[in-house]
Parts: sequence; C-alpha cells; structure tokens
Amino acid sequence: MSKNPRDPNYDPADDPKVVTATEGLTEGEVPNETPEVTANITFHQRFERNATLLLVGSLLVVSVGGIVEIAPLFWLENTIEEVEGMRPYSPLELAGRDIYVREGCYVCHSQMIRPMRDEVERYGHYSLAAESMYDHPFQWGSKRTGPDLARVGGRYSDEWHVDHLMDPQSVVPESIMPQYAFLADTRLNTDQTRALVATHAFVGVPYTDDMIAAADADIRVQVDPFGDIDGLLERYPKAQVRNFDGLPALTEMDALIAYLQMLGTLVDFSTFEPDASR
Ligand code: HEC
Repeated sequence: MSKNPRDPNYDPADDPKVVTATEGLTEGEVPNETPEVTANITFHQRFERNATLLLVGSLLVVSVGGIVEIAPLFWLENTIEEVEGMRPYSPLELAGRDIYVREGCYVCHSQMIRPMRDEVERYGHYSLAAESMYDHPFQWGSKRTGPDLARVGGRYSDEWHVDHLMDPQSVVPESIMPQYAFLADTRLNTDQTRALVATHAFVGVPYTDDMIAAADADIRVQVDPFGDIDGLLERYPKAQVRNFDGLPALTEMDALIAYLQMLGTLVDFSTFEPDASR
C-alpha cells in the first residue's frame, strides 16, 4: 500500500486526494478523476478518431450551411435588382467584348467599382450587379494593373482610343500597357455573329428572335452613320453609331472601341435610386 502514484503498489483507493466520480463527495468537493465517459462523448469520439467519418461529417455540415445560403438565390426573383436602361450588348459591342476577353485585357483591367470613396470619386458610381447581368463571362475583379474600365465609356474620344490602343505610350508616356496596333489591320470576322448572339440567348441573355435574325445587318449598320439605323436603335437603345476607328473597313478596332465607349453608359445615374427595400 502506497500513496505515491509512482510506486508499483500504489492504490488510488488509499489516496485521500483521489475521489472517484461522485461517490463519497462531501459538499464543495470536486472530483479530480475523469468522470465516466458518457454515451454522447463516445459518439463524438467516434467522429474525432476516424478521419473518413470526420471528413464525411464535416462535408455534410458544410453543405447544409452552403445550401441554406446559396439555394434561395436561384428562386428569389430580386437577387439582381432590375435597373432601367440595361439592355443586352449590340452585336458589334458583343464582338468587341469577345476581343477584349481574347486579348486578355481583363488581366490588367477590372470592371467593378467598389462602393468606397476613393473608387467612387475616381471612377464614378459604384457598379451594380445589374450592370453585369448580361456578361458571359463577367469582368469583375480586383487586380488592377491599369484603371477600372467599368465606366470608361465616353471618357475619351474615339481618336484617343485609337492612338492609345495603337501605341499607349504615345498618349500616356509612362504607360506599361502593350500595343494593340494589329487590331486596326484586322478585319472583324462576322461569320459567327448570328451564332454568337444566339449562343448568348441560349445561356439566358434576352435576345429576341428578331435580334438574332438582324444580327448580321446590325453589326455592319453600327459603324455606318448613313445606314438604316432606326431598327438598330430600337433593338439596342443608346447604341452609338459611327465609324469608330476612322478607317473604311470594319475592323476589330471598331468593335473594341464600340465596346469600350458603351461601358457604363446605359444606366442614367442622375435619376437612379437604389431600392433599399429589395
Ligand atoms: C499589362 C497590363 C495591361 C493590359 C494587358 C492592358 N492594359 Fe489597358 N492600361 C494599362 C495601364 C497600366 C493603363 C494606365 C496607363 C494608360 O492609360 O495607358 C491602362 C489604361 C487603359 C485605358 C485608359 C483607362 C483610363 O481610364 O484612363 C483603356 C481604355 C485601356 N487601358 C484599355 C485596354 C484594353 C482594351 C486592353 C486589351 C486590348 C488593355 N487595356 C490591356 C495596362 C494594361
């Protein structure tokens, strides 16, 4: 019999410091031995000691949380606040957008003005979700080697854009933007215009059959101020019609500048009121 725990003859029953569970506790005394493992803890320990079970269990818990947060967005009608003025891109703007994506302009430029004072003062009203609702793929982002372009439309003349895209350093000497002069020498490929518009309709952009049927004509009429532009303007209000690059041919430069010049111009922010009730 020994009261020294290191002694092989040690028996806790003889140790006055050890009180087993609740037995023999006088008032105010605290048991200093681990209480018997309860059924609950065994269940939990089973999870904690089995990596596969723990993984499956965590996945279950996380997916319940995820579904509760994400699923309603698919049924709520007001996930995206409708904003007056937003319309699908005209075929020429859409072609320009494709060139923008193809050339990787998004690697240096975002199209998302955040609602912080420095951004709003520099770029204009913060971006609304509705302004990207017809974008496939969207052009948000926070990686800005160059400035945000969400509202660059109308900020510069077409000539400035031509000069800047041909040779950025000619207008902004310290610019590190690459040159895109070849865009002015490259005729815009219009073989796929109708298919491009139809594809966007397929993924949910509200292009009507009429818009798809007129796409081939619309892409040409937008660079021809003397063309029959009434139909184009009815289908795409506020579409800007002119020879964007000043060259006789319909080039990729035309399409890209048409796209840049319409960015952020559709919603009239002098009359826009955010609807806080939604
Ligand atoms: C390597 C990064 C880089 C790439 C790629 C790039 N840019 Fe830029 N861009 C810049 C920088 C830096 C500036 C600011 C200096 C200047 O104006 O050139 C800028 C400025 C601009 C501006 C003027 C914006 C303003 O508000 O002053 C426009 C418009 C623009 N870029 C369009 C484009 C387009 C279109 C493409 C694709 C064809 C493109 N950029 C690709 C870096 C880039």
